[in-house]
Amino acid sequence: MKFFVDTADVNEIRELNDLGFVDGVTTNPSLILKSGRNILEVTKEICDIVEGPVSSEVTATEYDAIMKEAAVIAKIADNICIKLPLTLDGLKACKNLSSDGHLTNVTLCFSANQALLAARAGATFISPFIGRLDDIGLDGMDLIQEIRQIYDNYGFETEILAASARTVNHIKAAALIGADVVTAPPATLKALVKHPLTDKGLETFLADWAKTGQKIA
Ligand code: E4P
Repeated sequence: MKFFVDTADVNEIRELNDLGFVDGVTTNPSLILKSGRNILEVTKEICDIVEGPVSSEVTATEYDAIMKEAAVIAKIADNICIKLPLTLDGLKACKNLSSDGHLTNVTLCFSANQALLAARAGATFISPFIGRLDDIGLDGMDLIQEIRQIYDNYGFETEILAASARTVNHIKAAALIGADVVTAPPATLKALVKHPLTDKGLETFLADWAKTGQKIA
């Protein structure tokens, strides 16, 4: 499973990229707001840091305006992925942009039928939002499972990008189901490494090693 980092914070992206964790980046208008940066400038900087797809979201809602914004976003860098809303206008834009060879990410997916439409529109990625379904008392993982089955039934090549993943358990569950990609905040990705028995074991090994008086040199 590929890891995308869900942030527009270039320092965090650089740190994770240096750790070899980052296959791509997802941003959205709320994350751009949080960064306090200009969307075009910060997105260009992110595209220069990571090799993989960097999703940048249009904010227009009507087809013609979406296509105008998409043209601006597409010029930022070769690894730009145009993020589009799961609406009829967004899907129409997805079909045309995907046919023209652009990477596309259809966002705000909350149902299997929406994911089916995005695949038929040729989306590179579909972004089902796990955490936001959990927030309203549903199970986001049921949606990932349903989309996996539908895409496998018909051989759709659209990649399932499990989004709004907020916990390490979300990441594990998405991986067990077979999501192609997960996007999560930097802290959640870094938390994957944590286990108390790893810390405890390392502490014991280092204490015993000190007692040997040896050095590896
Ligand atoms: C994905 O592309 C979105 O940017 C993101 O995962 C949304 O996560 P949230 O529901 O935690 O805001």
